[in-house]
Amino acid sequence: MAQTPVKVTVTGAAGQIGYALLFRIASGQLLGADVPVKLSLLEVPQAVKAAEGTAMELDDCAFPLLSGIEITDDPNVAFAGANVALLVGAMPRKAGMERGDLLEANGGIFGPQGKAINDNAADDIRVLVVGNPANTNALIAQQHAPDVPAERFTAMTRLDHNRALSQLAAKLQVPVTEIKKMTIWGNHSATQYPDLFHAEVGGKIAAEQVDEAWLRDTFIPTVAKRGAAIIEARGASSAASAANAAIDHVFDWVNGTEWTSAAIPSDGSYGVPEGLISSFPVASRGGRWEIIQGLEIDAFSRERIDASVRELVEERDAVRALGLI
Ligand code: NAD
Ligand code: LMR
Repeated sequence: MAQTPVKVTVTGAAGQIGYALLFRIASGQLLGADVPVKLSLLEVPQAVKAAEGTAMELDDCAFPLLSGIEITDDPNVAFAGANVALLVGAMPRKAGMERGDLLEANGGIFGPQGKAINDNAADDIRVLVVGNPANTNALIAQQHAPDVPAERFTAMTRLDHNRALSQLAAKLQVPVTEIKKMTIWGNHSATQYPDLFHAEVGGKIAAEQVDEAWLRDTFIPTVAKRGAAIIEARGASSAASAANAAIDHVFDWVNGTEWTSAAIPSDGSYGVPEGLISSFPVASRGGRWEIIQGLEIDAFSRERIDASVRELVEERDAVRALGLI
């Protein structure tokens, strides 16, 4: 019997990440080369026509695995029966906007979308939030979906993880495949902490193979501020690399991995307050993320993890004060 297609909902489908993402999902790279998919594209009313144009192009690819495309501006329709939700559409920061304004504007998007997921999605729904501020947007959506297991709401730090792999590989002149156990801790923001004290290259700790000044003054800021550097160079934020990371995150969540980075709800591990959606070293087993336990955290790492987690606490407190969660 033919396999039932997996319904994948993409919000912000007419945006630049959407354009880099949809064709890869339809070609089988999100879930596997033998898994049929049905796409649901959610957009704001004024961008529905552009999404229709992208859908025409998807049709024109004649992807064997793509069993249908739906386009809507109604979250209840978009998330009805959804198995995977990629929440990409968000309110970008505009000139003169304070941090609170940004959180409030995004609360107006991610709260209702969380509720629509709660009321309409399939029982096995998995949610990845890409739209910034991703960790706190994921928290807002999760708090509006009390019937969905909390752990199904995640935020993307895989792009930061991939950036860290690439920077270290270039420094040590090794293929990225030589690097194991890379970790991004904390928030998807400039406070994130890319950790070389647990990463291994050729079986040896990465931090011992680079000098401390490079690690502290070049590696960490380059990874943490890479998003801003791309905006400066391209005049637009990262799109293809963000879409690629979203594919990596969901593929590994569904198909399993022994070690990567993802922002998932904290269970209190490593001193991160329970419930915060913070990046950890994770494995995926049986379709569930698990925080890798038992790592020793030295003083250098502790200070940086704490700083990023503090920022997440501040964001959570700000959205709480605004009545968004
Ligand atoms: P974009 O502006 O090109 O596209 C965003 C799209 O979202 C637009 O088409 C807009 O109409 C749509 N949208 C806005 N509100 C919506 C809503 N309520 N429902 C459905 N759609 C809605 O932006 P982009 O470059 O595609 O980036 C999207 C987001 O991803 C941004 O917030 C960006 O900062 C973020 N981002 C995150 C990462 C990460 O690593 N987590 C990396 C890159 C970009
Ligand atoms: C990125 O890391 O590339 C983005 O989150 C940057 C941004 O502000 O959209």
